[in-house]
Amino acid sequence: MSSNSGGRTPSHVAIVMDGNGRWATRRLLPRVAGHRQGVESLKRCVQACLDRGIRVLTVFAFSSENWNRPADEVSGLMELLGMALGREVPQLARAGVRIRVAGDRSGLSARLREGLDAAERETAHNDRLILNVCFNYGGRWDIVQAAQTLVARGEPISEESLSKALSLAHVGDPDLLIRTGGEQRLSNFLLWQAAYAELFFSDRLWPDFDEVALDEALAEFARRERRFGRTSEQLLGAAAVPGPRAAA
Ligand code: IPE
Ligand code: IPE
Ligand code: MG
Repeated sequence: MSSNSGGRTPSHVAIVMDGNGRWATRRLLPRVAGHRQGVESLKRCVQACLDRGIRVLTVFAFSSENWNRPADEVSGLMELLGMALGREVPQLARAGVRIRVAGDRSGLSARLREGLDAAERETAHNDRLILNVCFNYGGRWDIVQAAQTLVARGEPISEESLSKALSLAHVGDPDLLIRTGGEQRLSNFLLWQAAYAELFFSDRLWPDFDEVALDEALAEFARRERRFGRTSEQLLGAAAVPGPRAAA
């Protein structure tokens, strides 16, 4: 039994998968080779989450700002997503993973959009693990599109209504947000949903982030005291203190 078993395992883990480019550059490889290795690392991570009873994994795969990269890297990333969808979805479907894609699909090619729709459709019956892939995603984009949706429907804007219009409304807020690659910033990931996430920064580059590294993050999470604005003394008196939004 691992040290993070029991009630202290986060139900929703979010990851900024950073460091692919440096992983490749250190090996004198093109950056896209690092992204390819990043897909392998994600597969390993999904299996590790399944093994540990984590219910939701949300990963940042391509940000609204990543369009500013050199054209060949951007096209390499688009190609990689298309290939990964074709190759990996059947196995993920068999493993009980439900894929959801968050982000601005209007900026993607028709072929990619079809691939993303198919991945969601073919895994829609699964519920062991929800894998949210944030692609062409930005936290600011998400808040704006949610506000626009409410305005278009003529609905009042409140924390609750806005939460429900966000692209990750089908899951609770992340309990643990990991960023690999050594940088300590959000880079426009889950700005709204990370309000009370425990943050964990790893120096490992994403292709090197393995089960041992995940267990380090989970062990650290289990040691954290989540107060949601309350005091430690209050927590001692309460059996369970729910966050602002209960996890899925
Ligand atoms: C993260 O790795 C993947 C994407 C942003 C698509 P990077 O490509 O940012 O890797 P580094 O940070 O340059 O090493
Ligand atoms: C964040 O990483 C985006 C993804 C991991 C997809 P970046 O490498 O783009 O972030 P910055 O530019 O270092 O902040
Ligand atoms: Mg980076």
